[in-house]
Amino acid sequence: MTLRIFPITPEFAAEVGDVDLSQPLSGTVEQAIKAAFWQYGVLIFPDQQLSAEEHLRFARVFGPLETSIAVHQPQAKLRLAAEFADVSNLTVRDQLWGEDSRARLFALGNRLWHTDSSFRQIPAYASLLYARSIAPIGGHTEFADLRAAFDALPPDQRAALRGRVLEHSIFTSRAKLGFHDFAQAERDALPPVQQVLVRTLPQTGRESLYLASHAGRVIGLPDAEGLALIDALTTHATQRQFVYTHRWRVGDLVLWDNRCTAHRGTEFDDLRWRRDYQRVSVADVANSCAQAQLTLGP
Ligand code: OGA
Ligand code: MN
Repeated sequence: MTLRIFPITPEFAAEVGDVDLSQPLSGTVEQAIKAAFWQYGVLIFPDQQLSAEEHLRFARVFGPLETSIAVHQPQAKLRLAAEFADVSNLTVRDQLWGEDSRARLFALGNRLWHTDSSFRQIPAYASLLYARSIAPIGGHTEFADLRAAFDALPPDQRAALRGRVLEHSIFTSRAKLGFHDFAQAERDALPPVQQVLVRTLPQTGRESLYLASHAGRVIGLPDAEGLALIDALTTHATQRQFVYTHRWRVGDLVLWDNRCTAHRGTEFDDLRWRRDYQRVSVADVANSCAQAQLTLGP
């Protein structure tokens, strides 16, 4: 069995074949997967049959796992273990969510362009989303290449953006949807954090925008000017030439690099179709501002 990499787009998304992620991988195969991950940013592993434990084991290849933010929601009954983000439209009793369910309205945040956990002090490095059942139409996931988007900016704009810092909060992205239904304990558990706007990826030396709907302020700019900048850059970065749309098959595991990609889910008839996806995210090594200081030196 030799690992095969099939590019879907020249530089951004690739399928990985001839690998069974339910089995422990050799060091050589792990290294080859990591190299492809750093090169592309989005990898698709089709036709996997994974238990929860096997999904977690493959995720741990990339580093320590995050705990789902759902653990901060008072009275939330979870379908899955704390390391999983439940990206389904299902209740604990395996029924479709009702139209007004809080979980449903909260999950609409996934329809806005974002990168996972940028609202945490230590954001997500990699995410691994696994499809157990899919909607027959709609419910795709779009990915934007934020490295290519940065490279396409004029040099003077790139220079002006380097060193900028943004404030991210989960409550910012939800407020954009008019969703404010949070208990004080939930707000206290997830205070706003700072992240750099331009990241340098240590493995490749490439630079990338780091943007999410969670970002609400640019430090040092008036609020309105900051929001206008975030909006303009997001519009730039999500133009079609930077976007790969993943149309899911049951058994797809999609792995992406949150440091240099943004993603969003597309609409589907969620009151009619079951869409049962599970995500495990791997924590980054440090806050992005701290990493930038490490890269730039004293
Ligand atoms: C996620 C996410 C989008 C989707 O799992 O982090 O944003 O299409 N998912 O389900
Ligand atoms: Mn996400």
